[in-house]
Amino acid sequence: LLAGPDGRPLTGRTAVVTAGPTFEPIDPVRGLTNRSSGKQGYAVAAALAELGAEVTLISGPVALEAPVGVTRVWVEAATEMKAAVEAALPADIAVMSAAVADWRVDGVASGKIKKKPGGPPSLALIENPDILAGVSAPGPRRPKLVVGFAAETSDLEANARAKLSRKGCDWIIGNDVSDEVFGSDGNAVTLFTRDGAEPWPRQSKTDVARKIAQRIADHFKA
Ligand code: CTP
Ligand code: CA
Repeated sequence: LLAGPDGRPLTGRTAVVTAGPTFEPIDPVRGLTNRSSGKQGYAVAAALAELGAEVTLISGPVALEAPVGVTRVWVEAATEMKAAVEAALPADIAVMSAAVADWRVDGVASGKIKKKPGGPPSLALIENPDILAGVSAPGPRRPKLVVGFAAETSDLEANARAKLSRKGCDWIIGNDVSDEVFGSDGNAVTLFTRDGAEPWPRQSKTDVARKIAQRIADHFKA
């Protein structure tokens, strides 16, 4: 199989992509979130669609237009993101680029928490489900190719490799976020597979995304 009927290599393939941060409520007016512009994940969704894939983009709160030809599903909390991803399966390809908040507040207040003379409230946190690990788990609904991201401020290789084995995904795109990533249009990443590591030179997030999409197309061609 070299290409779909229209000559694009991913025509006939389905993909689910997560992007942006999640937002975990504290009360009706406050929340916890992660830093993420969503640009890299949106660019991956666009690049996969350009190659012909039918893409569902599960997006946390970001200020971006949906790429042409992509179906966007808005979510806020990680638990909603997980449910939306599961609803979008089965799919051939999963790319989990979202910056999922690792914790949510246990016992979200139904009304606004007011300041009190006794001092600030303490928040009890519970761990969110790992969406990527869930999608990567063996089974009939597992996508043929599952790609995760790893945002690290140090020890990129060791941390990315540990995530590859702990989460059970096929590839990890390792991202050094110690400078010039958040909100920026450029990105320097390393592709970690089970066989090796391939550093890519700093380039635009659009070009990083096109390279990821092309690699995915090559994988399905092989
Ligand atoms: N991820 C996920 N669900 C979570 C946490 C992370 O799907 N609850 C995914 C991210 O979308 C990303 C990958 O897992 O593709 C790695 O996320 P990262 O935050 O780097 O890894 P963690 O396992 O959360 O480890 P830590 O934050 O402690 O480095
Ligand atoms: Ca995390």
